[in-house]
Amino acid sequence: METNKKVYSDSQVVKHYAAYSASLQRPERTIMNLIQPVLQEMRMLDIGVGAGRTTVFFADKVKEYTGIDFSEGMTRACKEKFGNTYPAAVFETVDVRDLSRYADNSFGFVLFSFNGLDNISHEERIVALSEIRRVCAEKGIFCFSSHNLQCLPDFFGIRFRWHPVRFLKSLFARRRLIARNKEQIGKFPEADHVTIFDDVYDFGLHTYYIRPSAQIAQLKKNGFGEVKVFSLNTGEELREQQYEAATDSWLYYLCSKLT
Ligand SMILES: C[S@@+](CC[C@H](N)C(=O)[O-])C[C@H]1O[C@@H](n2cnc3c(N)ncnc32)[C@H](O)[C@@H]1O
Repeated sequence: METNKKVYSDSQVVKHYAAYSASLQRPERTIMNLIQPVLQEMRMLDIGVGAGRTTVFFADKVKEYTGIDFSEGMTRACKEKFGNTYPAAVFETVDVRDLSRYADNSFGFVLFSFNGLDNISHEERIVALSEIRRVCAEKGIFCFSSHNLQCLPDFFGIRFRWHPVRFLKSLFARRRLIARNKEQIGKFPEADHVTIFDDVYDFGLHTYYIRPSAQIAQLKKNGFGEVKVFSLNTGEELREQQYEAATDSWLYYLCSKLT
């Protein structure tokens, strides 16, 4: 999955993220409202901060704000953008797989927004979860999103376009996408998680998809509990009976460190 780092270090990709308007995704808004009362007491670690889409919503609401990313271009963009507005905010080039520069129990709130966690392999994800748990304070909050394996049948399906040329192009793109992911497609019905070769950035992105039930089990196994799941489409918390039918492209998870 090292090509993912290459993609996020590309200056055009950094520019793309820097141009994002300051807005939160629906579930992020719901979660922010839920944790608003305790935010000001917390030191926050914003992992995979990118060009700082979430910074504007949190930097002046928390006790201390640190944004990290494994792409130097991204952290540079944050420093340039927020150096004057949030002079106390810290931006560092750090990989989630090695948070050794931060002491145990350092952060009351850890965020890894917009599926950043899906850029590493399954084994590395377990390492990342262990690192996140270590730097998370006692009863600290961890929030992240992850691609939903249950959306993949739609993702690989035919997408109708009214414009005939666009429709033909989309059929051609779908054929390439299927050819690159033949092995994974066969695994959908039984797999808990798969890694897909995404057709954005010329197949440079390899993306992890997981079933919500498997994600919850993974969190519990790695020392997190009180897991809540939020729909990307509605922003609302899903009930347990809704997990299996959820086909949102990604879901948000809110949980706390178990001690
Ligand atoms: C989809 S972008 C989201 C950026 C930003 N959070 C936003 O919402 O606009 C994912 C980000 O995660 C970062 N990322 C991916 N894997 C990472 C890792 N192992 N350690 C730190 N950052 C990582 C990427 O460089 C990228 O900036």
